[in-house]
Amino acid sequence: MKTIDELVGEGVAGKRVFVRADLNVPLDGGTITDDGRIRAAVPTIRKLSEAGARVVAASHLGRPKGAPDPQFSLAPVAKRLGELLGTDVAFAADTVGESARGTVEAGSDGSVTLLENLRFNAGETSKDDAERGAFADELAALADLYVGDGFGAVHRKHASVYDLPARLPHAAGGLIATEVGVLKKLTEDVRRPYAVVLGGAKVSDKLGVIDHLLEKADRILIGGGMAYTFLKAQGHEVGSSLLQEDQVPVVQGYLERAEKLGVEFVLPVDVLAAESFPDLKTKAPAAPRTVAVDAIPAELMGLDVGPRTQELYAAKLADAATVFWNGPMGVFEHPDYAEGTRAVAKGLLDSDAFTVVGGGDSAAAVRLLGFDENAFGHISTGGGASLEYLEGKTLPGLAALEDS
Ligand code: 3PG
Repeated sequence: MKTIDELVGEGVAGKRVFVRADLNVPLDGGTITDDGRIRAAVPTIRKLSEAGARVVAASHLGRPKGAPDPQFSLAPVAKRLGELLGTDVAFAADTVGESARGTVEAGSDGSVTLLENLRFNAGETSKDDAERGAFADELAALADLYVGDGFGAVHRKHASVYDLPARLPHAAGGLIATEVGVLKKLTEDVRRPYAVVLGGAKVSDKLGVIDHLLEKADRILIGGGMAYTFLKAQGHEVGSSLLQEDQVPVVQGYLERAEKLGVEFVLPVDVLAAESFPDLKTKAPAAPRTVAVDAIPAELMGLDVGPRTQELYAAKLADAATVFWNGPMGVFEHPDYAEGTRAVAKGLLDSDAFTVVGGGDSAAAVRLLGFDENAFGHISTGGGASLEYLEGKTLPGLAALEDS
């Protein structure tokens, strides 16, 4: 993989450099609620701009359906990117149309242009190679060089991630280099004990990584909505909690395999539960009840791990040498259900372990709960991407950068 420094060393002044970033940030209306991914994209864009390149930055945001949809516009991101860079960012109102061509054409050495959401064009995510290729051809016409830096999207076989680098001389940006360097430490010569904390809503999103980590980790701590499928697999009733009934047998298989392999599965011993999901807009008090996992009433749903579980998880993290954490422990966006996630974040910080927080949600949670993000070993910008990396999968966006 050619590095950004090698590319800059070869001379980028006056060249149009396409930077595929991951600027997929959470928005509330037009307001960015967590700008972590934009901040992570800044160093590569700045380096190229300072070297005199005409930067053409691009990203997806959300999951629009292949056509313009104002709620997914990157316009607020262009503004924030400009503030962070301390320079004007020209915003193109389309991806490869008149506005994009005109804006890129008007750029001067050192300028930064941001294209509109790449997923406003159906070719970006198409499963059809020809359709994706046609869009990649149009994107390629806007640039002389390509820098892949959108780590959060490298697991997507999309036109701007996978097909475009095949059409332009390319290099890996600084963010991708850092992310891959960190994740390598979780797959090669891992310092032990190696604890993995997995949360989030759906167990089905995590099956691949659990399957793979059973061979690597010493301890796997489970929280979030996915915990209830594990609790059910252990024979508990989970009331009206989130449950993926069809995954219960798979999860049972994991619990059995873990026992054979000597991997410790740590599941919640108590949960905070209520009759209904809390209102995340008003954040009205939810008055949850703490219940043991073998006594969850039929009418209650678990929404966070309970205080005894928080203590247990902190203890299981205390002596770890390496920790990977993906996914919140509960509905952390509501103050009544934030303590489980806070306890895990604190557990990471209190241990001497090398700590990696992976995933948009857990990274956002860490910042929302007021933790100093620099206190963690690494906060990944990739959720699905970091999980798929740890699963040992070939990631299209990394494979596309390899041959340079
Ligand atoms: C993410 O948020 O994990 C990345 O930006 C990828 O987004 P996607 O899951 O919509 O492809």
